[in-house]
Amino acid sequence: MAGCDLARLARKHGTPLYVMNEDLIRHNARSLVSGASFRYAQCDVAYAGKAFLCGWMCEIAAQEGMHLDVVSGGELHTAVRAGFPPERIIFHGNNKSMQEILYGVECGVGRFAIDSYLEIQMLSDAARRASRQVDVLIRIAPGVEAHTHRYMETGMLDSKFGFGLENGEASRAFRCVREQKHLRVRGFHCHIGSQILETTGLEIATRRMIDFAASLAGDEGYRTEELDLGGGLGVRYTQEDDPPSIDEYLDSVIGTFLKECGRQRIAPPRLLLEPGRAVVAEAGVTLYTIGAIKDIPGVRKYVSVDGGMTDNPRPALYGAVYEAVLANRPGDPATDTVAVAGKSCESGDILIQEAHLPPVEPGDILCVLTTGAYGYSMASNYNRLPRPAVVALSDGRSRVVVRRETYEDVVSKDVLGKKTAKRLLAAAREDDGSTRWQS
Ligand code: LLP
Repeated sequence: MAGCDLARLARKHGTPLYVMNEDLIRHNARSLVSGASFRYAQCDVAYAGKAFLCGWMCEIAAQEGMHLDVVSGGELHTAVRAGFPPERIIFHGNNKSMQEILYGVECGVGRFAIDSYLEIQMLSDAARRASRQVDVLIRIAPGVEAHTHRYMETGMLDSKFGFGLENGEASRAFRCVREQKHLRVRGFHCHIGSQILETTGLEIATRRMIDFAASLAGDEGYRTEELDLGGGLGVRYTQEDDPPSIDEYLDSVIGTFLKECGRQRIAPPRLLLEPGRAVVAEAGVTLYTIGAIKDIPGVRKYVSVDGGMTDNPRPALYGAVYEAVLANRPGDPATDTVAVAGKSCESGDILIQEAHLPPVEPGDILCVLTTGAYGYSMASNYNRLPRPAVVALSDGRSRVVVRRETYEDVVSKDVLGKKTAKRLLAAAREDDGSTRWQS
């Protein structure tokens, strides 16, 4: 991968290990950014940080000329700390706290994507207190099915996200924001869902957003400056998946956008697209060491690895299907079908129900493919397992971009009783500097 030997990386950095192909991430980012502006000069691409975010990823997004979608104070902090230009940040979230809103205003984020009447009031207060004018996009639920997993569908009327189009809430929210002296409506946002494998839903949503912009132009004399059509482009998890290519996706969304602006005779607003998964998913793999193997004759063979739902909750959460290969013996024929189990204390912790692999042994290195999105970012410390490191590869070289958590990291926020704390302090004074508990 990117000129590096994965089995060797596993030996060097330990497992589980997230490995990200920086060259492929940059390639995807460039295809999106240049492909978008080639089709429509006023189209920007924001990277949706929820797919995978750390300081290193913020640096890449900034260098590749992307905007950044953040959805919490923590993501915003990650970006600001990494020096990401705040004016290129879009702050999303259906229930931002006052603390998050104040932080966003203070940083000078480029746009707030407003998602509730409460937020309109809170943001208006925060902007007034800071004597600032804040640009907002109003999040719309365009009432479109994305044809994906129910948990990944976000654009329906019956959704916690966005102001409904069909029930008139979108127009009401628009008028409400316009009444706020310190808020400026820059435009509208929608995001219908994720892991979208066919573009019809995106096209319908685009058409509805432009119809809405046109209706506001007619009824209110308002000219929409910007439309943000969200993310959602799917990726290939298994050989059966056949997602649109980046070019097909851009052709479909930008083509529909320009055509519909023409049909409605409105000046095309600036356009923003917000892919997350399509930038990073296929650029990532996770390496595990195979441990216990339990063969139940006539039933199933369980092959356990040293990670699982804690570093990749997607199979347990969505029934997501992955494929794997052996990193240390990639050429061996896959003659066995096994269940790849994680190590968490949970029967549902099965990473792959039916993995086709060569006969495996403890110590082999398993490489699960397409784990670059929503793996590290959704990882947990369930069972107090330390989270893996992230290693980035480029042109034959590797670099740790997130270090592995230690046991001490895992307990670092525990507040102990006085007696225990004293005992630990005394023990630390006598410590011989041994690091045997460090991972
Ligand atoms: N913009 C907004 C407002 C979003 O809510 C999302 C994803 C994106 C952009 C990026 O979508 P993408 O291009 O990555 O599909 N945890 C789930 C995915 C949840 C996505 C939530 N929002 C998973 O693991 O599949």
